[in-house]
Amino acid sequence: MVNEQRSIGIVMNGVTGRMGYRQHLVRSILAIRQQGGLSLPDGTVLWPEPILVGRSESKLQTIAKEHGLDRWTTDLDEALRSGAEIYFDAQVTSMRSEGVRRAIDAGLHVYTEKPIAEDTEGALELGRLARSAGIKAGVVQDKLFLPGLRKLKRLVDGGFFGRILSVRGEFGYWVFEGDWQEAQRPSWNYRAEDGGGIIVDMFCHWRYVLEDILAPVRSVQALAATHIPERVDEQGRTYPATADDAAYGIFELDGGIVAQLNSSWATRVFRDELVEFQVDGTEGSAVAGLRRCRVQHRSMTPKPVWNPDLPATEDFRGQWQEVPDNTEFDNGFKVQWEMFLRHVACDEPFPWDFLAGARGVQLAELGLESAAEGRRVEVPELTL
Ligand SMILES: NC(=O)c1ccc[n+]([C@@H]2O[C@H](COP(=O)([O-])OP(=O)(O)OC[C@H]3O[C@@H](n4cnc5c(N)ncnc54)[C@H](O)[C@@H]3O)[C@@H](O)[C@H]2O)c1
Repeated sequence: MVNEQRSIGIVMNGVTGRMGYRQHLVRSILAIRQQGGLSLPDGTVLWPEPILVGRSESKLQTIAKEHGLDRWTTDLDEALRSGAEIYFDAQVTSMRSEGVRRAIDAGLHVYTEKPIAEDTEGALELGRLARSAGIKAGVVQDKLFLPGLRKLKRLVDGGFFGRILSVRGEFGYWVFEGDWQEAQRPSWNYRAEDGGGIIVDMFCHWRYVLEDILAPVRSVQALAATHIPERVDEQGRTYPATADDAAYGIFELDGGIVAQLNSSWATRVFRDELVEFQVDGTEGSAVAGLRRCRVQHRSMTPKPVWNPDLPATEDFRGQWQEVPDNTEFDNGFKVQWEMFLRHVACDEPFPWDFLAGARGVQLAELGLESAAEGRRVEVPELTL
């Protein structure tokens, strides 16, 4: 029996960018096509048809040609009128609200990169518009699908930690200034006026990572820094960095859990992965990264004695055990895309709606407020 195929048009705005191209077009939508489409519970196969949207005809043409696609345009409204069912946005953050708003007005379901807007009120407004238009709306929360964090969640769900006490997270790497070696991130990331800054970028992620895996965030205290005051952009022009490139945050979670998360584009990596979280609990601890997760149970905890007169004799890292995968982990962006497509096509649940997106924006906004005022800030509940 041949399964029936159903095409679903997806307007993809911002596919010439880093995230839009690599993670969303190539590693998600084209990967779904390469696997033969997405099977739905009723046996239908959903076939995504991307319509590429961007500002540069030549870039769009090149991408389309390289991947054998024939639908692309620089005219967003034309794309929105093409009969597509979903609008996806991976543009620079400052352009997001406008694109999403136009898509909602046109009656499309919307899936978008984070942050969903530049401020909390703007994010909630999009949520209200989506609700009154009766469309489905979702936000990318990719870190939840990282193998390391999925294993961490499994440990939490299985009660491994006992009472969770604290979390220490290190995220970051050196982003070149652009003079001597080309920067590996776009220059707008370092300009506040263009929606840049590491707090805006990363606190959206920290909100759902902490809440979906551990517990609700009740307060934030952040210290922001612009360690590198001047950088060189894509055109070789020197510009002042007006946004924070490092943030040192302390978050209080329900249950008395304290999370300390450092985010920095001005640090050099002496870790096993670009992000790592250590969770300490009364019964055991874990260190989770992008892919790996290691644990040390209470029963296996050594008893080091402080003695700086002698060189360390214990191999502390060797005293941890690797948590097995026990499953196959697909690309996290693709897994979440498949969930959103099923949400649209057959109403399967998708918990990461615009309210979830607004909560991420809220933590970033309050983090900036805390940094500017030098004080701890409560995180109030949000409703649409
Ligand atoms: N989920 C994640 O892990 C993750 C990681 C990085 C970035 N992001 C988000 O994805 C979005 C895109 O980030 P990126 O790193 O791919 O950026 P990028 O600069 O590589 O791409 C930006 C895209 O926006 C388009 N654009 C539209 N209007 C623009 C304008 N006025 N100026 C410049 N570009 C404009 C560009 O053409 C390009 O396609 C951001 O909102 C960012 O927060 C998410």
